[in-house]
Amino acid sequence: MLEVNDLHVRYGRVHAVRGVSLKVAAGEIVAVLGANGAGKSSLLKALMGLEPADSGSIKLDGGDITRWPTSRRVRERLVLVPEGRRIVTSLTVHENLLMGAFARKDTRTVDAEIDAIYARFPNLAARRQLPASVLSGGEQQMLAIGRGLLADPKLMMLDEPSLGLSPLLTRTVFALIAELNRQRGLAILLVEQNTHMALELANRAYVLELGSKVMEGAPSDLRDDPSLRDAYLGRAEKRKTVAG
Ligand SMILES: Nc1ncnc2c1ncn2[C@@H]1O[C@H](COP(=O)(O)OP(=O)(O)OP(=O)(O)O)[C@@H](O)[C@H]1O
Ligand SMILES: [Mg+2]
Repeated sequence: MLEVNDLHVRYGRVHAVRGVSLKVAAGEIVAVLGANGAGKSSLLKALMGLEPADSGSIKLDGGDITRWPTSRRVRERLVLVPEGRRIVTSLTVHENLLMGAFARKDTRTVDAEIDAIYARFPNLAARRQLPASVLSGGEQQMLAIGRGLLADPKLMMLDEPSLGLSPLLTRTVFALIAELNRQRGLAILLVEQNTHMALELANRAYVLELGSKVMEGAPSDLRDDPSLRDAYLGRAEKRKTVAG
């Protein structure tokens, strides 16, 4: 479904993504792991067209979308739930959810899906008419995910959905992702620092370090590989050295 080849992303002199290639097949859950600054968010932004690809190619269902604007990718039902939530705090919880469905014409289905989201996240249901600014960090994350789902994604990309969530809520969110994948065959590209849970969910995983892909494979292979730990610790150690 998604095929990324030798992708590079640069911010001026910062070379954030360095020749990353990856694939997501229909119905697959693929995890992208890596420490802070590894280039995970930059990769997702480039896939969404929010940052230009410096070179390399992005294909969706065989067609080259590398130079497509974000709006066109959205119409092809590529959805990103960004890091840091990005909900509209001046709108109500319900309006935020409706925003996700703005391009859809199947109003009945949308209503049923909104009900399902409220059933899943009672915190949101109880606050549906309140401005989203009153939500806690975890509730905002739920809202951002709910809004992404209402766009009826073909491929859903999630940037650290567990960030700021309690362990219980993290499990709820991951269970939801698994269920959507199972029931609707929704393909998922999951960026996570919660390596353990991501590897439990994913069919395959990639590990980025300093913008480069350093590992890929089945979760069972990666879990036992000491270099996965190094991809995190190595970086942390380097930081410590720089700091002092
Ligand atoms: N808009 C930007 N301008 C300049 N440099 C940037 C920009 N966005 C990211 N970077 C740099 O690119 C590198 C990769 O950042 P990115 O946000 O992709 O990492 P990440 O893997 O998502 O990290 P985290 O886990 O902390 O979210 C970092 O060194 C970062 O400082
Ligand atoms: Mg990030």
